[in-house]
Amino acid sequence: MKRGVYNFFGGMAIYPPRVIEEVRRDLLEYENTGLSIFEMSHRSQTFRNIIDKAEENLRQLMNISDNYHVLFLQGGENLQFSMIPINFLRDKNRPANYIVTGYWSEKAIKDARREGQVNIIWDGRDEGFTRVPKQNELQFDSDAAYVYYTTNETVEGIQFPMIPDVGDIPLVCDMCSDFISKPIDVTKYALISAHAQKNAGIAGVTIVIIRDDFLQDIPDNIHTMLDYRPHVEKSSIYNTSPTFAIYTVMLMTRWLIEDIGGLENMNKLAQQRSDIIYELLDKNAGFYKPHAKPDSRSLINIVFNLPTAELTQKFIAEGAEEGLVGLQGHRSLGGIRASFFNPMPMEGVHALRDFMLRFHEKYR
Ligand SMILES: Cc1ncc(COP(=O)(O)O)c(C=O)c1O
Repeated sequence: MKRGVYNFFGGMAIYPPRVIEEVRRDLLEYENTGLSIFEMSHRSQTFRNIIDKAEENLRQLMNISDNYHVLFLQGGENLQFSMIPINFLRDKNRPANYIVTGYWSEKAIKDARREGQVNIIWDGRDEGFTRVPKQNELQFDSDAAYVYYTTNETVEGIQFPMIPDVGDIPLVCDMCSDFISKPIDVTKYALISAHAQKNAGIAGVTIVIIRDDFLQDIPDNIHTMLDYRPHVEKSSIYNTSPTFAIYTVMLMTRWLIEDIGGLENMNKLAQQRSDIIYELLDKNAGFYKPHAKPDSRSLINIVFNLPTAELTQKFIAEGAEEGLVGLQGHRSLGGIRASFFNPMPMEGVHALRDFMLRFHEKYR
C-alpha cells in the first residue's frame, strides 16, 4: 500500500499500511477459521485469544504490572468523564481536584460536578490554554478523592512534559492523544484512560488501566455498565464487546512492538517529527504563529495560526489539494492543527514541511 495522501486529522487517525492490509486479509477470513473477523463471536476462544493478546501487548509496551487491570470498554472518552466521578467521587465527602488545561479537561468537569465537589486547582483559560502548569503551581487538597488531568490537550496542542507529583492522592488521567506514544511510569497512576482511535486502534473501544486497590472504595448504587468492577470480573466481556475495534488494538500494538520496536523508539520518532515543524514555525514566526508556549508544546498536535482567516482557509484548501488532509484546527479554536499520531511516516512530515515553506514563499 503506497500513500499519496497524509491524514493530519485530530482523529480518526492515520493507520500503518501493514495494519490496513492485515485487516483487509482478515475481513475475508481470520486465521483459517472460515469466518470473517467481524463474524467472530465475542464468546469464542478465537476472540478471547485476540483480546488477551491486545492486553498482553499493552502490558509489554507500557510495562504494566499485575496489580493493574486492563479494560476494553465502550462509550468513548466522554463516558470516562462520567464513569470516573461516578465510581470515585459519588458519596464521598471529599473533593476531586481537576487541572484545567484546555477543551477536554474543561469538558470533563461538567460531568464530575454532577457527582460531588470539584475543586479546580489550576486553570489555564485566562492564558488562552497556551501552557500546562509547572509542578510548583499545583497545590492539591490533601483529602482529595483523586487528581484528574489531561496528558495532552488535542485541541490546543499542549502536553505535560512531566507526570504531576500528587503524593499519595490517586492520580487519574485522560491519555487519549498521547497514549502509547512514549514510555510512561504507569505506577504513578490509579487510572489511565484512552480511547483507541488515535494511537491504539479504531473508534469503538476505550482502554482503561486501573490499579486494583482503587476499586476497593466504589459505592454499590451504580448502574452495572457504569461500574468498573463488573468489567474487571468479566475480563472486559460483560456484554457484547466491540470485537472489531479490540482486534485493531491487537494489530496496532503488535505493529508498535514489531515494526517500531516499542515506546522509546516511538518517542524518538515523535520528537523528530515535531522538531521539524516547530523549527519551521520558529524560523517564520512572523507568518506562522504557534499556539503553545515552548515548554508545553505537544509532540502530537501542532497548533498554529496564520496572519488572516483568508490565509487559513487557503492553507487548508491548498494543503488538501496536495494530499495533506485534515489540517483545519478544532471547531472551538480555528487556525491550523497538524496531528502526528503514531503511524505518521516521516514522508508525511516532510510533505507538510515542504508545503509550508512553499506557502510561506507564496503569501508572505
Ligand atoms: C484528549 C481527549 N479527550 C477526550 C476526547 C473525547 O473522546 P470521545 O470522542 O472518544 O468521547 C477527545 C477527542 O478527540 C480527546 O482528544
